[in-house]
Amino acid sequence: MNIAGIPIESRAFLAPMSGVTDIVMRRIAARRGAGIVVSEMVASDEFVRGNEEARIRAEGEGVSPHVVQLAGCDPHWLGEAARLAEANGAAVVDINMGCPAKKVTGGWAGSALMRDLDHAVTLIEAAVAAVKVPVTVKMRLGWDDASRNAPELARRAVAAGARMITVHGRTRQQFYKGKADWRAIAAVRAAGDFPLVANGDVHDAEDARTCLEHSGADFVMVGRAALGRPWLVGEIGAALDGREPERLTRPEKLALACEHYEELLALMGVAHGVRHARKHLAAYADEAVAEGCEPDPERRRILLTSEDPRQVMGALRGLLSNECSRAAA
Ligand SMILES: Cc1cc2nc3c(=O)[nH]c(=O)nc-3n(C[C@H](O)[C@H](O)[C@H](O)COP(=O)(O)O)c2cc1C
Repeated sequence: MNIAGIPIESRAFLAPMSGVTDIVMRRIAARRGAGIVVSEMVASDEFVRGNEEARIRAEGEGVSPHVVQLAGCDPHWLGEAARLAEANGAAVVDINMGCPAKKVTGGWAGSALMRDLDHAVTLIEAAVAAVKVPVTVKMRLGWDDASRNAPELARRAVAAGARMITVHGRTRQQFYKGKADWRAIAAVRAAGDFPLVANGDVHDAEDARTCLEHSGADFVMVGRAALGRPWLVGEIGAALDGREPERLTRPEKLALACEHYEELLALMGVAHGVRHARKHLAAYADEAVAEGCEPDPERRRILLTSEDPRQVMGALRGLLSNECSRAAA
């Protein structure tokens, strides 16, 4: 399997998620078998101007292929950001045409680009002209039900040089409501013979199989279900290939959660890292409970409030360790 000549080991990818798919999560997911992992969206102008948060979001050390997702609505900034991402090691530049957030669409970026396909195409052309690495596009089904124009945008994007298309099976107006419509993605499949990724509400291998069958896509992308379970993407990919996924033991999951925490603090500094890590730690704790560990509200409170890394680590070990009697059985 390959995308624009880049070898891909698995058909399941980790979705870009702002505030979530930091480089540490992506490294763990990639190591555990995700085919592609995509950075959080990076605002093009901020990245080019040297904003520190944008730089951290675009960090790619230890993941291959390194995919940076850019957001923006100005061809100049998008092209410059693509150039900078490539110079910093990106193997693929993805363009965000799916983000529904008002602060993004208000600036005519993200899914707002689906309301002006001519402009969307100028952005793709700017990125393609700026870099040698493949440019890809992630979109929704359309802005709303009256304008489900993903097939047209995909066709035009590919004509402008995009090498892979990802479609989240919802419209912008749906935000995250309802259920992703995998069958609607089949209309994008019918628009041409390009690598196609289907996304939305894939939680396990069975979902992934159904999603691929209904959409006709080549790959699936997993977002929210991987929070607290970055190994899930590789497990789904293995199952799609008919391989028995290597299941992690509880101590191995604990070790990955600790690694995630410690590396975030090293990357972001303690003050920022402690806060950023909370959503991950809560999700790791929830996953442990879902697997049978005893819930422990006091330790969970420490995860979500303590500013002291040693105290947080102690609570994490307690929540995720073999002390969970039911899970250890
Ligand atoms: C917290 C959060 C942040 C997201 N940030 C991005 C982003 O930066 N870029 C993007 O293309 N999509 C983003 N998305 C959308 C996801 O990539 C994905 O399309 C969506 O969550 C549907 O997939 P899922 O049901 O597997 O989560 C985000 C989603 C969530 C929940």
